[in-house]
Amino acid sequence: MKLNFNFAVVSDLHIALPHTIWDEPNRFHLVEVSIPAFEQILAQLAENPPDFLLLPGDLVQHGERENHQWLADRLAKLPFPTYVVPGNHDVINRWGNTDKTGEHGGKGKGRIALRDFPQIYQAFGYADGQQLYYQQEILPGVHLIGLNSNAFDADGEQIGTGLIDDEQLAWLDDQLARLADKFVMVMVHHNTLEHLPGQSKTKLGQRYMIRNAPDLVSRLQKGHVPVAFTGHLHVQDIAQAGDFYAITTGSLVSYPHPYRLMSLTTDQQGRYQLQVKTQRIESLPEWPTLQTTSKHWMSDRAFPFMLKLLTDPPISLSLKQAKTYAPQLKDFWATVAAGDAKVNYPELPAAAQAYFHRYNAIGADGQPRLIDNHTVLTLGSA
Ligand SMILES: [Fe+2]
Ligand SMILES: [Fe+2]
Repeated sequence: MKLNFNFAVVSDLHIALPHTIWDEPNRFHLVEVSIPAFEQILAQLAENPPDFLLLPGDLVQHGERENHQWLADRLAKLPFPTYVVPGNHDVINRWGNTDKTGEHGGKGKGRIALRDFPQIYQAFGYADGQQLYYQQEILPGVHLIGLNSNAFDADGEQIGTGLIDDEQLAWLDDQLARLADKFVMVMVHHNTLEHLPGQSKTKLGQRYMIRNAPDLVSRLQKGHVPVAFTGHLHVQDIAQAGDFYAITTGSLVSYPHPYRLMSLTTDQQGRYQLQVKTQRIESLPEWPTLQTTSKHWMSDRAFPFMLKLLTDPPISLSLKQAKTYAPQLKDFWATVAAGDAKVNYPELPAAAQAYFHRYNAIGADGQPRLIDNHTVLTLGSA
């Protein structure tokens, strides 16, 4: 089947109405730009409307019902369909502002419960308004599967990593068997493949992954699903495992404020070619130098994070050494977040240099492979 369509991906919007914004000076995310930045993207999309828009989770700042409602109302006014999945910031606690017995009040005040999510976003993937995952034919012959990677413990608290539960995996097996001859894309908040070196082995990296990602990815590969769209990491990266691509999109509210414009076409040999382009919010009326301001914002807050990275294994520098080197690394995280990273710290001890070298965008052949922001990927064939 010949396919030809355009779509956009905006991730980790962390929508925050001004009066809901947390008064936290060390906050990593510039949530104040969420609404004006999203409006700028929508204005641009209106000029050349995509066939659909994907939002892979962390839709709001921190589970606030009024921020969710603002977004759902805004999406309802768009001239093209939008599909969403929940992120860890969308449902903070399984029961939201009720406890297990349904009593209101307590620390979750004003926040939605897990079961509210598919109701609020019923028009944006969750046709029945109840099930936390879905499959839809979004264009003739094109199917989207939206998964829920949030998981909660017996007290209703998040488990701290992504997880696709057994019930969902069984459902997925069934869907993929039925869609064997269709073009299927998946959207899920937490990462399906490693986007950072050793991500699934470090404590810091594991938080961003689906704990049972191999169980999911092996199913997707077997079902010939060529691509998954994720968020959560706030980094621009495209990872590959065989014929399967994991495209993670950085956050709208952190440097470099990226979003993706995609087009899928069928070439003369019948192969599906996905063209990926990345744009950035360069400036906003109240943020005329957004790119520079935001990079500084991130670098300023990166110091404690860099100290931890330098003192933890495998680098394991002493705190004194780490304090000497950390200032030179202040832009490291911003460079990684932008995708297609190129870093080199010749002043660092050799072991630390070797560690940071692994973050460079280099292919299996040792040559630079810059595919995180602009590329064309072959996603199977008709
Ligand atoms: Fe996020
Ligand atoms: Fe997240």
